[in-house]
Amino acid sequence: MEDIVALCRRRGFVFQSSEIYGGINGFWDYGPLGVLLKKNLKDAWWNDIITCPDDGPDGKPLDMVGLDATIIMNPKVWVASGHVGGFSDPMVDCRECKSRFRADHMDEYPCPLKPSKKAGGFEKCSLTEAREFNLMFETYVGAIRNEDAKAYLRPETAQGIFANFDNVVNTSRVKVPFGIAQIGKAFRNEVTPRNFTFRSREFEQMEIEFFIRPDSAEEWYKFWRDTRYAWWKAIGLAGDNLTLREHDRDELAHYAKEGAGTSDIEYRFPFTAPGFGELEGVAHRTDYDLRQHAEHSGLGDKLKYFDQERNERYFPHVIEPSAGADRGTLAVLCEAYTPTPERKGSKVVMKFHPRLAPIKAAVFPLVNKEGMPEVAEKLYRQLRKKYSIEFDVKQSIGKRYARMDEAGTPYCFTVDGDTLTDNTVTVRDRDTASQDRIAIDKVEAFLAEKIGG
Ligand code: GAP
Repeated sequence: MEDIVALCRRRGFVFQSSEIYGGINGFWDYGPLGVLLKKNLKDAWWNDIITCPDDGPDGKPLDMVGLDATIIMNPKVWVASGHVGGFSDPMVDCRECKSRFRADHMDEYPCPLKPSKKAGGFEKCSLTEAREFNLMFETYVGAIRNEDAKAYLRPETAQGIFANFDNVVNTSRVKVPFGIAQIGKAFRNEVTPRNFTFRSREFEQMEIEFFIRPDSAEEWYKFWRDTRYAWWKAIGLAGDNLTLREHDRDELAHYAKEGAGTSDIEYRFPFTAPGFGELEGVAHRTDYDLRQHAEHSGLGDKLKYFDQERNERYFPHVIEPSAGADRGTLAVLCEAYTPTPERKGSKVVMKFHPRLAPIKAAVFPLVNKEGMPEVAEKLYRQLRKKYSIEFDVKQSIGKRYARMDEAGTPYCFTVDGDTLTDNTVTVRDRDTASQDRIAIDKVEAFLAEKIGG
């Protein structure tokens, strides 16, 4: 994992937030390559969920709409959702070294004074009683800082969707079953942020709340569980590192129904191996949230959905696939990371799925003279109208290939002496390092075929 973190820093995927001041625990910035990678992941999700979704289990086109709700909402939202009362982790302190742990993660955070579990571990530490620590960040709205002005940074994007359920139903033509999806920041004052971006205090979620008739929950739960699992595979997390795990009974969240499904899509991160860490949860949230908002807003049955076909009013049930954009990006980074000791120049190749690769292709003149830069620049200008393309004239060609291998760029096109006489360029494949020649006027079509667009 250290090698991946070092590459992320060195190549501008991920930086520590406010690094020049020593950083701040649990906060991360995405650099020029990282921001493209994460954006490509979010765009792929948005495209496949909202713009061009698959058909549902009934063979009908899925009814999906998007939303962009605010981070700060009326604090009553978080009372209704149960977060003010119950969104907490049990926390203990070591009286000797003053370390702070999550009481339910003790094996993950051994006290530095007693690092060896075999040697007695925590039993020998002097620990405080566990106390509940609410994970929501607090702030104040307006000029006066009192209890009435207190508000929260949202700990999940989901409640923005539930609070807008009625607005969406009344302003669009959606009919149950339908989904509302959004991508946005969420904040949790995690007791112990750790494992790079895996457990951060500020992160992004990609959430779907899919509203269904209560009697169709099982079918829709299975559909979303399998669809989301297949999606992570399709964008490159294929193989043994991805797994689907149904929750045990004692793991069910407060809103999840006994006997109804909850599962996690998990990835084998280097720091969880041989175990897995959660990428996305798929849960049957029942009608818990809509009922809570109906009660706490005082709107009661007015928030019920009217099903014209059945001539019936009810609170729809909800299947929620909730994914982390940062954890997804981290999994993609870990999966792509491929040491290549057999290659001459490149020590590491980042084998991103072409859809996610931050830079789709690079254009190089073999040498920075003899008319090659001009031809290469013309090709670069043509391609960059459609794709994110790098143009580089510095250093030896081997070093430029190695830089692009580390950035995960699928193809490099090199203009050399032959180009000037036969109008062909070299195309180098990132994954095999093999080189072919193709006509310069076929490069755009070649990229379209390989990358899409
Ligand atoms: N609305 C349901 C919900 O928020 P969750 O399992 O708490 O469920 C969903 O979070 C996803 O958000 C997780 O699967 C994970 O990918 C991401 N996530 C949660 N906490 C995170 C954290 N502290 N840092 C990074 N990602 C996090």
